Amino acid sequence: MDGAGPSGLSGKHVALGVTGSIAAYKVVELARLCVTAGATVDVLMTEGATRFITPLTFATLTQRRVWTTPYEPWSEAEEGHIAVGRRAECFVVAPATADMLAKLAHGLADDMVCLSALASSAPLVLAPAMNHYMWLHPAVQENVATLRARGARIVGPDAGPLASGFVGMGRLVPMERLFGEIAGMFRQRRELAGRRIVVTAGGTREPLDPVRYLGNRSSGRMGYAIAAAAVARGAAVTLVSGPTALAPPVGVTFVRIETAAEMEAATRRAVVDADALVMSAAVADFRPAHRAAHKIKKTPDGAVPEIVLERTPDILAGLRDVRIIKVGFAAETDDLLQNARQKLAAKGLAMIVANDAVATIGARDSTATFLYADGRTEEQPEMAKEALAECIIDRLVTLLKA
Ligand code: CTP
Repeated sequence: MDGAGPSGLSGKHVALGVTGSIAAYKVVELARLCVTAGATVDVLMTEGATRFITPLTFATLTQRRVWTTPYEPWSEAEEGHIAVGRRAECFVVAPATADMLAKLAHGLADDMVCLSALASSAPLVLAPAMNHYMWLHPAVQENVATLRARGARIVGPDAGPLASGFVGMGRLVPMERLFGEIAGMFRQRRELAGRRIVVTAGGTREPLDPVRYLGNRSSGRMGYAIAAAAVARGAAVTLVSGPTALAPPVGVTFVRIETAAEMEAATRRAVVDADALVMSAAVADFRPAHRAAHKIKKTPDGAVPEIVLERTPDILAGLRDVRIIKVGFAAETDDLLQNARQKLAAKGLAMIVANDAVATIGARDSTATFLYADGRTEEQPEMAKEALAECIIDRLVTLLKA
């Protein structure tokens, strides 16, 4: 792995302020994402936050002391209550309650979160979470406007069901999204500005009759994370996706398809003026040779229908003559590296991401090995797919430059 780290977070100091909202438990996942990406995470908690979740949870995850009170003697070397804010390269407050937004807007310093934020000159990322009516109150909106005008990045809140059972604005954004924003803070460079990138994601569905299909377990998470990471770095991204439960990342041109044939047609159209293709979709290799026009019914004689399969097009192989940077995936159950190297050559790829099909497809985390056309191999540690996506985009940036 190169020194830049997978997501730009490697070796960076992140201060994570947690305040007293029921959403505090979700932030454990954010701490995990940052730690897996190689960041040093200093967690600061208000007294209210410690009522919802214990400092021990964060201390265990981050392997560091968690800061809960300004009223403790500290050694000179630690510079007491100022140190965390000073060394932070990104200061995140999640969840940010209405109370904390008011304190930050007005420069209060009576708990470890707002005090450290006051001492910090790092970019501030705030993820508000509160009741719908509180969020809409002019006092809160004015505080948010003040913070935004000072350069704070406000992420969310989202609309949806709230802890009260009420549906409205005020939900903490998903932690993957917040992680993406933080990674974005560390990448001031928009390395992919002016580049066009096509990403495929999800699994395909091959119909058997009007109600049934052959599909696979792909969640689309890897490809969606790659598309989001590429957008964050300034690329114009077309995301060609099979059916998934995910919302398309903001800023992509989204093309929804069902079958391998539809994915092939959409991908061919999209690559015409593209610089790169990242083919992370789990494309069906076989499809029913005949699609029944009507639902296949059970028959009284107990007979079982025979399904005859035929091959689908190999999309990547079919694009062999399209001279753009192509990145493929190899999901294998056996002989991972040998098979991946063979696919890399056969499909004319610049890079292939090899991973264990059983452990990876549909999972949150992934291990991977990158193999390159020039023979290099890079093994990656296990990490969240969002972090792996950043890592893949780092490599794509290099390949595009070469
Ligand atoms: N792929 C493709 N078209 C297909 C099947 C796969 O473009 N019909 C792409 C995948 O998106 C991936 C790469 O090819 O980037 C390798 O896919 P994988 O399923 O690992 O391998 P296959 O080529 O399908 O070979 P096999 O199933 O024999 O392992």
